[in-house]
This record gives sequence, structure tokens and C-alpha cells, in this order.
Amino acid sequence: MTILSPQSDYDTAPDRGGPRQPMLIVQGLRKHFGIGGGFNGKAAVVRAVDGVSFDVPKNKTLGIVGESGCGKSTTAKLLMQLIRADEGEIILDGDPVAMSRGVSLRDYRRSVQMVFQDSYASLNPRLSLQDTVAFGPRATGIPQAAAMRRAHDMLRRVGLAPEVFASRLPHELSGGQRQRVNIARALAMNPRVLILDEAVSALDKSVEAQVLNLLQDLKQELGLTYLFISHDLNVVRYISDRVMVMYLGKVVEIGDVKDVFDHALHPYTRGLLSSRPSMNPRQRRTEPPLSGDPPSPIDPPSGCRFRTRCSFAETVCAEREPPLASLGLDQQVACHAVTPGSGHTQASAGEGASQ
Ligand SMILES: Nc1ncnc2c1ncn2[C@@H]1O[C@H](COP(=O)(O)OP(=O)(O)OP(=O)(O)O)[C@@H](O)[C@H]1O
Ligand code: SF4
Ligand SMILES: [Mg+2]
Repeated sequence: MTILSPQSDYDTAPDRGGPRQPMLIVQGLRKHFGIGGGFNGKAAVVRAVDGVSFDVPKNKTLGIVGESGCGKSTTAKLLMQLIRADEGEIILDGDPVAMSRGVSLRDYRRSVQMVFQDSYASLNPRLSLQDTVAFGPRATGIPQAAAMRRAHDMLRRVGLAPEVFASRLPHELSGGQRQRVNIARALAMNPRVLILDEAVSALDKSVEAQVLNLLQDLKQELGLTYLFISHDLNVVRYISDRVMVMYLGKVVEIGDVKDVFDHALHPYTRGLLSSRPSMNPRQRRTEPPLSGDPPSPIDPPSGCRFRTRCSFAETVCAEREPPLASLGLDQQVACHAVTPGSGHTQASAGEGASQ
């Protein structure tokens, strides 16, 4: 892997923990939104993210999947510190965020950048592309000339020649070009982590493929770590090293992308995968696709939250929440049916998997 040297006039966060230290460790992240109009008009809480823990290794891509409303974007916003977590800890390259001896919130905010789906809404229509990309560096105190150099370099890296594009306005660009500007703007902050929330979903398939390839190249060139949120499971399979499956604010399965896609262990993951269109008959699945909608995150089912839609549900599933347990070399699953010693009739008797 070649990591291009950082700009001399722009400081970059050093690699502190070494290659084996995860870039991000997230522990027990929780966000409940208070809303009016629950049962009998009383206030209620939406359990959007309800105790989520995961690691993201350095220079890898973690795909995040799950049906609409399962908490993917809320997780992303919590990681970006756009909203405040009720509970939980975020550790960036070994340093707890915003703790007295850890990485400061200001440095963390620069190190973690995000690209959203709506490329037009996130660009100021009156700012030229060079000013758009230079805006972040300028706001952190980089002098104008250096910020412009950086903006031009970033535009070039995302395939928009600055000689042609630097003074253009957003409305003069195609959707794919606008999304390249959003990527350049995020990269201009010299981040170590890029969160992509449905960032390519609105693009035509051929343009989407070009932007995905660009993202793969930038990841290698700049040594970036990605969190990639998408509804398109085929795209997630293509771009991710690991994948995390969420259901109603919880992680139900996480692991190496090949292991999870080829040997999913959680009934929800299996249902989700069989719901995706496949052109290859050998990849067609025998499991029934998911039916119905997830229950309300205001009043989730007891025990396993998937039990109301799971054909393997038993009494234990209503009584106890299945812990996220290690079942493979790099695969963790929260399901009683595959956890030894859980009491589920399909699980082997035993000591229980490691948690
Ligand atoms: N600001 C908010 N106030 C109240 N509820 C919210 C708020 N933001 C999100 N929610 C709720 O939290 C839950 C998780 O939402 P989130 O946007 O994280 O889901 P998602 O997985 O990103 O869905 P999608 O795939 O549709 O983008 C949903 O039930 C949503 O309605
Ligand atoms: S814990 Fe029970 S209900 Fe939940 S997925 Fe496993 S078998 Fe189904
Ligand atoms: Mg979302």
C-alpha cells in the first residue's frame, strides 16, 4: 500500500496505535429520542440505537446494513458527534474521544468525516467548487493560499481537473460530479475515517460503479478507513471487508463480509440476503425472504427483537436477549438458536460461546 505524503502545509493525524490497533472501537453506544404522542398521548422514546458495540480495523471498510429505521444513520451521526449519545464510548486509534487524556473533540471531528446521499442539498449553490472544498480547511485556520492548493489537489484526486472545474458552481455538475465534490470536501479535512451514508445510492449504476472505484483507490492512496451504509447488499458485498447487520437499534451479526454473505448465521441476516435480487441462479437462496415490517422501536419485543418475525422463535427468545457472541474466527451473532448452551432446542448444549 502506498500512502501519499500529506500536504506539507497541512498537518495530518499520526498513526498512533500501529496497524493492529482498530481505527475505531465503539462500546455500548445508545441513543433514545424522546417524542410526544406515544400511547395515550404520553411522551415516548424511540430506541434508535440501543447498546451498539463494534470495531473497525485500520484501512478497512465496514459495511452497515439493515432495513429502514434500524439505526444506521443514527449510528453514523453519533460517530460524527452530530448528535450526542446517551451512553457509550468511542475510541479513535486507541484514544478515548473527548476524555481528559484522549483525543479532543476538535481533532476527532476533523479525523472523522461524512458524505451523505443528497449531493445537491449538501452543497452551497453560490459557492464555487474550489471555495466549497477550501471552506473546511479555512475554518480550521489554514491560510487562504494553502487552503486553495489543498482544494485543487483534492479536486484532482477525485477526478475533477481543477483547471476545468475549480470555478464552476454546483448546478453546472452532474450528480456523480457533485458527489465527487462532496468526497473532495470531506478529504480536504485530512480525515482518517470516512462515513458514507447511502453516498452512492442516488447515482445511476454506471456512475455509481465509477464512484465506488474512486473510493477504493482513495482508500488505498490515503490509508483511509470507511464505514459504508447502504441498502444495496450487492454494493456492500463489493466494497466492504467486514459487514455489520443491524435490527431495531441492535447489532445482530458482524463479521468478515465473505463469511457473513456466504454463511450467515442469524435468521434476520439470512432473510435479508434472500430478499436481495440475484442474477446468478447458483446464488439463489432457499430461505424465505423477510415478510412484514419491523415492530416499532418505541416498544420493541422482549428478549430477541427479531422474534416476532423469526420462524425459529422459542420461549427462550422472548425471555432473554441473546448476547452478541463469537461463533467463528471473525463472526459474532446474537441468536439463541446458534449459541451453545442457550436453551434453544436447535443450539447444542455446552458452555456457551465467548462474548
Ligand atoms: N431526530 C429524531 N427524532 C425521533 N426519532 C428519530 C430521529 N432520528 C431518527 N429517529 C428514529 O430512529 C430510528 C432509526 O432511524 P435511522 O435514521 O437511524 O434509521 P436508518 O437505519 O438510517 O434508516 P434508513 O435506512 O431509512 O435511512 C427510526 O425509527 C427513526 O424514525
Ligand atoms: S434468538 Fe430466537 S427469535 Fe431471535 S433470531 Fe434467534 S431463534 Fe430467532
Ligand atoms: Mg439512514
